[in-house]
Amino acid sequence: MHLITLIPGDGIGPEITKAVTDIFAAAQVPVQWEEQNAGQTTFDQSGELIPQALLTSLEKNRVALKGPITTPVGKGFRSINVTLRQKYDLYQNVRPSKTTEGIKTRYEGIDLVLFRENTEGLYSGLEVWDERLGIADSIARITVAGARKICRAAFAYAAKHGRKKVTLAHKANIIKMAGTIMLNACKEAATEFPQIVFEDKIIDNMCMQLVNKPEQFDVIVTTNLFGDLLSDLCAGLVGGLGVVAGANIGDEMAIFEAVHGSAPDIAGQGKANPTALLRSALMMLHHLGEHQYADTIEKALEATLKDKEKCTGDLGGTASTSEFAQAIISNLSK
Ligand code: NAI
Ligand code: MG
Repeated sequence: MHLITLIPGDGIGPEITKAVTDIFAAAQVPVQWEEQNAGQTTFDQSGELIPQALLTSLEKNRVALKGPITTPVGKGFRSINVTLRQKYDLYQNVRPSKTTEGIKTRYEGIDLVLFRENTEGLYSGLEVWDERLGIADSIARITVAGARKICRAAFAYAAKHGRKKVTLAHKANIIKMAGTIMLNACKEAATEFPQIVFEDKIIDNMCMQLVNKPEQFDVIVTTNLFGDLLSDLCAGLVGGLGVVAGANIGDEMAIFEAVHGSAPDIAGQGKANPTALLRSALMMLHHLGEHQYADTIEKALEATLKDKEKCTGDLGGTASTSEFAQAIISNLSK
């Protein structure tokens, strides 16, 4: 039995979390949830955005499933996601994007995985504002050690999952120092994994190629901000934020989360699509070595997605969140 920290989150978080825990219970997945919340909900209850009880639970269990969290708007509220990623050195943000029968897109044959560096770059928080001169310096710090870790992780993933190619997206022609560090880190990793083809592309060209011919890509690795933008672009290629999974992975801890937000416009109405969180939970099962349970649930999800009527409104169906979850549950035994 795996003990997992469960962070339901805000807005649609509790609804999609319930869908996932219901499906896991029906599939008899050997996990036990330890629920600890964070965000707007805990802030309203106790004045804490990230309660200590959550941190204690994360440090003990080292694996978590997280719903979307609302970061209150206003001064002094730092993003909870960024805080957790930096505090626990969750340096890999891993996002698979795959075309799936039943999910409408303009493309077919996409099956790529994006590795975004998750703790450095423009997210380092190194900003200096000179009031007198009217100058803001927002520093995109890249460390050699950080670049090596993320590039090696992308190659190791490619090797482990039988993938053929790693593409580095960068801007080394202009951002020469940081770009060169990433290029060198990839070249170094490539020598360790000679069976994996390595190529690099300049980020603007990469964007064009991704919308033009996305099926050419396999594993992509890039820095924090480029990765933030590319990962949403990739989600758009395969059906949007409601269907793509995400994981924040470090050497000591991993937090799996849907990449969409708390969707306050549809919260509490039973309209939310639980697919993104469910797929994140399946990544978690692979991380835990529970491949069989992950495959069983994935098959049931794929069968359900083909039956439009059983899906939520964003996928063209009429089902509620819980009806969609029930349809997946009834497909488990087929
Ligand atoms: P959002 O992703 O919550 O919503 C964008 C649009 O997509 C909305 O129309 C929403 O209804 C729809 N949508 C999102 N997820 C859906 C789902 N599972 N099923 C069906 N429709 C879905 O982005 P928005 O509105 O920019 O942010 C809302 C809040 O979420 C903000 O407070 C923001 O800070 C937070 N947020 C949290 C994230 C996280 O915890 N990982 C990530 C992004 C935003
Ligand atoms: Mg983003």
